[in-house]
Amino acid sequence: MQISLEGKRAFVTAGGDGMGRTTAITMHELGAEVFTCDIDPRGLATLPDGITTWECDVSDSSALNAIFDEILPGGLDIMINNAGVGGPTKLVEDVTDEEWDHCMSICIDAQFYCARRVAPVFKAQQSGVIINMISGAGIMGFPGRSPYAAAKWAAAGFTETLAMELGPDNIRVNGIVPGNVNGDRMERVIAAHAGAEGLDPEAVRHMYAIGTSMQCYVDPQEISDLIMFLVSDYGRHISGQIIGVDGNTETLYPRS
Ligand SMILES: NC(=O)c1ccc[n+]([C@@H]2O[C@H](COP(=O)([O-])OP(=O)(O)OC[C@H]3O[C@@H](n4cnc5c(N)ncnc54)[C@H](O)[C@@H]3O)[C@@H](O)[C@H]2O)c1
Repeated sequence: MQISLEGKRAFVTAGGDGMGRTTAITMHELGAEVFTCDIDPRGLATLPDGITTWECDVSDSSALNAIFDEILPGGLDIMINNAGVGGPTKLVEDVTDEEWDHCMSICIDAQFYCARRVAPVFKAQQSGVIINMISGAGIMGFPGRSPYAAAKWAAAGFTETLAMELGPDNIRVNGIVPGNVNGDRMERVIAAHAGAEGLDPEAVRHMYAIGTSMQCYVDPQEISDLIMFLVSDYGRHISGQIIGVDGNTETLYPRS
């Protein structure tokens, strides 16, 4: 089995770092013409030549629209709604309007802004694939992370609904549940959780691992590998699925 994305055009949001970066680079290596954006230009500057980049905050629909105005006249085959932020780690009564809105706008509003633009193009060409990044927080409760859980459950509902709306036009829509992904973001999440509850960060790290059946952390490339399968012809009849690459998350909040 060999995956080729030759001739495909793909847009990944937040491709400067983390899984978006790995995904953009892997698609580029498999032959796709890749477009990406990020709020932080530093990661964009070190992407391989040939990947087209924009500095953009995905919560700004006009900024995203300007990017789509440049990309879509040439067509698009793959939309990866990757951008997401973890939101605050605090009890619901302490969450501010700004914290709630910030998390929602990046985790779910941006997925809507992108889907709204690509759907007519995908319909006209009778093909297209959308991948929405979800989270274990989008399939189970996550005490202390209510904005993030609410946004990611919204993303799961959005994914299921788009799969039904767009399936008759040969457009596939799937969601991915990354587990505990090694990288800077996981370190920030662990530090925030430890700080909020007065715990040792190593205890939090262990707690997250034992919340999964395989007691594991995963690497960003494992997420990108699944994305490559789903966006390729091998995934041609996979739609409406929310698939974990997470060692099977049993709980996000083991209570000892
Ligand atoms: N890392 C994990 O363990 C994990 C677990 C489950 C789900 N997820 C989800 O996977 C996706 C990717 O996560 P990650 O950990 O790779 O991300 P990350 O935290 O590593 O961030 C990736 C990029 O997002 C960019 N970004 C942040 N805000 C932005 C904005 N407003 N506009 C544009 N770009 C912005 C950052 O500059 C960064 O380059 C997210 O949707 C996240 O919620 C991550």
